[in-house]
Amino acid sequence: MKFQSPSGKIIKSPKKLSFDFVPDKLPHREEQQQNLFMLFRRVIESGVSQNAFLHGNVGTGKTASAKRFCMDYKEWAAEKEKRVDYVFVNCRKRSNKSLILWKIISKFDRGFPDRGFSVGEMMEIVRRHIKNTGTHLFIILDEADALIQRDGPELVFLLSRFDDETMVPKGSISIFLISQKNVLELLDESALSTFKRSNRILFKPYDKDQLSDILAYRADLALYPGSIEEDELNLLSLIASERGDARLGIELMEKAALLAEENGRNLIGPEDIRTAKADIDPYMTASRLRGLNDNERMILLAAAQKLRNKSFTTTGDLETHYHVLCENYEKNSLGHTQFWKYLKSLSGDGILETETTSSGKGRTTKVSLSDIPAGLLEKKLMELIEG
Ligand SMILES: Nc1ncnc2c1ncn2[C@@H]1O[C@H](COP(=O)(O)OP(=O)(O)O)[C@@H](O)[C@H]1O
Ligand SMILES: [Mg+2]
Repeated sequence: MKFQSPSGKIIKSPKKLSFDFVPDKLPHREEQQQNLFMLFRRVIESGVSQNAFLHGNVGTGKTASAKRFCMDYKEWAAEKEKRVDYVFVNCRKRSNKSLILWKIISKFDRGFPDRGFSVGEMMEIVRRHIKNTGTHLFIILDEADALIQRDGPELVFLLSRFDDETMVPKGSISIFLISQKNVLELLDESALSTFKRSNRILFKPYDKDQLSDILAYRADLALYPGSIEEDELNLLSLIASERGDARLGIELMEKAALLAEENGRNLIGPEDIRTAKADIDPYMTASRLRGLNDNERMILLAAAQKLRNKSFTTTGDLETHYHVLCENYEKNSLGHTQFWKYLKSLSGDGILETETTSSGKGRTTKVSLSDIPAGLLEKKLMELIEG
């Protein structure tokens, strides 16, 4: 058969939306980068080892920040004629000492056999390499809770005491622990004594405005210019801000872009975003809709119709359209106060999003939908209402 590529063109560089891509900049993580630098600059200035614990929820930029930091630090050290290298290990994929040590050794000995060496022997090989090359090694243990829970804290202990054990020059290995859980609680006394408690760097969930900057930046890198507009960026950030999760935002942007391309469009629309969201994490299930009363269904139907081609509508437009609909269906409509009460409750249940902003013209409340495409919601509601 003849294959046909989608005619829409939105994604310029798919690689730049992937999870392992490390962008040059990480907006809103400057403080964490600077804190890391304050801790680690002594590594080459005074030749001492340092350790850090990067702590925060999923999608808060821990992995990306650690990688970016190590890349930039390596360059900074090279300018000062110091050798720094780093090894990145995902402990969910490699969750015991041997697997992790093997990954570290393969960094400088590509053909190293993956069996036949004890932990002690492998530690010795790492030690020799460091001594012979005068390298300072950063070891990033990402998702470190997986290692500590399955294999205990011993490897963290061994690595963080590396300097004390032998004649290697001081300042040979630094460790980055990364985890959503507080791994310091999982370490035992001996590991903790070398792994200072104070070196925790916190990654808070991103808020909506931060996500909006991050997504605009990632869109700039990965998409053709003009493929996404401000309202749609705002809708994406609003959805991702429920979890403060940049990963969710980027994943949604990618899926929405692919959907638009498949439909031959060069612009991401609100319905692409909602379809992507419903696909990743369906929330607006049929049973949820059946649980709504008649008033709620009519308000929601009005919203679905107003939002068919838009990311946001205003409460004023929504209320007007709601009255039109009630007339069409010959239903009693709610007065203004009651209408607001129901709208608030729909938004409290996470079915609709409302957002109030103040401007020169006073306060306006915008309404949006994030969990289901408006077209699909409209169809489901009509079925229920018309029975
Ligand atoms: N500040 C930021 N600027 C740009 N992209 C970011 C930022 N923070 C996170 N990301 C991106 O979001 C995704 C998730 O980040 P990641 O570092 O994997 O989070 P974590 O390790 O905390 O779960 C990655 O694709 C990453 O590149
Ligand atoms: Mg991570």
